[in-house]
Formats: sequence, C-alpha cells, structure tokens
Amino acid sequence: MHRLLITGAAGGIGQIMRKKLRSLATILRLSDISDLGEAAAHEEIVPCDLADSKGVRDLVAGCDGILHLGGMAGEAPSSQIVGINVTGCLNLYEAARAHGMPRILLASSQHAMGFYRQNEQLDATMPMRPDGLYGLSKCFSELTAQMYFDKFGQETAIVRIGSCFEAPRDRRMLATWLSYDDFASLVDRVFKVPRLGCATVWGVSNNDARWWDNRAANFLGWQPKDNAAEYRAHIEATQPMPDPASPASVYQGGPFVEKPIVHDL
Ligand code: NAI
Repeated sequence: MHRLLITGAAGGIGQIMRKKLRSLATILRLSDISDLGEAAAHEEIVPCDLADSKGVRDLVAGCDGILHLGGMAGEAPSSQIVGINVTGCLNLYEAARAHGMPRILLASSQHAMGFYRQNEQLDATMPMRPDGLYGLSKCFSELTAQMYFDKFGQETAIVRIGSCFEAPRDRRMLATWLSYDDFASLVDRVFKVPRLGCATVWGVSNNDARWWDNRAANFLGWQPKDNAAEYRAHIEATQPMPDPASPASVYQGGPFVEKPIVHDL
C-alpha cells in the first residue's frame, strides 16, 4: 500500500501502531488533534479535527487505507459522543466515498455488546447491546460501515476491540485483552486480504478466558498469539476480588455498565 492514514495517531494505540505498522505502507499519514511530534522520513503529519467535514475530506485524499482510531475512547457526555464519534464517523465515510473508497479498519469496541453476561459466548451475528453512550456511538459506527458497504461497496473491518494495552490490568481483561502485537498483525491481515467485504472481528488475543467466537473472521488468516493467562497469577495477586454480584462482575462491559448517562446536547 502506498499511503495509510491513521486517525487518532497520538492516542494510546495510535502511538504504538505508528511504530509497528511502519512497513505496511510506503507513507504513514498520521492525524490527530493532539501533538504528534516530528514526522519521520516515511511519515506525513496532518492535524485534523474529525468533526470538521471539509478537513476530513482533505485528510483522506490520496490515501489507500484508513486505520480509524480517533475519537472519544470512553464514556463521555452526549455532546462529545455525538459531536466527535458520530459526526466524525460520518465525515470519514463521506470522505472515503469522495476519494475512491480506501479500505477502512474501524476501531469499534466490545462496549457495543457490553450488556451481555460474562458467562455468555458471543459471535459476530448477535444483536448489539451497548452499555452506554460510548457503546451506542460504536453501534452507530458499525451500522454506518454496513450501510456504506451495502449502498456503495465500501469495505470495512469492524474490529470490536476488547482491551488493548501493554498488558491486562484487571481480572476482566484476562478475557478481553488484545496485545499490541496481535492488533498490529490483525491490521496487516485486514489490509492484505484480497476481499474483505464488511466483516466484524473480535479484537482479542488468544486468551484462555475469552468470551468471543471469531470463526466468522477465519478468512482473514489472522492468528493472535498472545494469551492473557500468562498474567493471571500477577493479576490475581495484585487486583482485589470484586463482588461477584456487582453489575461490573456480571456484564461483559464491566464498570461501563454502571456509568451515568450525561445528556448535555
Ligand atoms: P485514545 O483516547 O488514547 O486515543 C484516541 C485519540 O483520538 C486521541 O489521541 C485523541 O486526541 C484523538 N481524538 C479525540 N477527539 C478527536 C477529534 N475530534 N478529532 C481528531 N482526533 C481526536 O484511545 P485508544 O485507547 O488509543 O483507542 C483508539 C480507538 O480504539 C478508539 O476509537 C477507541 O474507542 C477504540 N478502542 C480502544 C480500546 C482500548 O482498549 N484501548 C478498547 C475498545 C475500543
């Protein structure tokens, strides 16, 4: 690929992907509203607010693929969820349509499905059950991807990321953790597979305790290698045992299911 756009490139995942995806494209176009530092020889830095439709249209011009990470990455008041995640998603898909429909990897979230119970195994066909406004914005994004595929043929990998950090941080992440290496190898497969369509993929490592069935995404040839079980002893020794009856222990969304809705539009 010649030019890969990464939105949200200054964020937690974006900073790591900036390094790990170096060889996936000749040029990485990095975008965010936060500081991205100096561009290396193979990089272009293009600051852009995803809420600015004209800016996003210019941002996408000339790109052959888009790794869409930018936006609010947790629960927030409705003005921010709608103003950034919902508007930003529409801006991105319209910009892609205007510029030859480069393939998109959409960073969705397990919080689109947070009200399933932790003792349930989910696959990609089950109805969405968001656990808050953030999860609801990810449902909107997923449906936007599906609509642009059905209407125009725009290809997207909808990746429902579990918890993408250096290491699992609590007991729930023993099921939901996605290592940076496994995410990078998934991005690689998404942009190399000959035909993608509009596929939903659970963004989770090869964890013994995982709750999600990824067989529908086998065609990608993605083989996550890391396993949160390696951290189990450390997590159990250092993290308090939560009340098993609390909603955060019962539902897959964990503490998100108890966060308040702040409606300030
Ligand atoms: P992050 O919060 O570290 O990064 C998000 C980036 O988006 C930030 O650098 C921020 O400046 C940028 N951003 C915010 N508003 C913007 C705007 N209006 N215009 C342009 N850029 C804007 O989040 P992280 O952890 O890197 O997550 C990346 C993506 O993955 C997000 O879409 C998040 O919802 C999703 N995700 C992440 C998970 C995780 O475990 N880290 C779990 C599930 C989903």
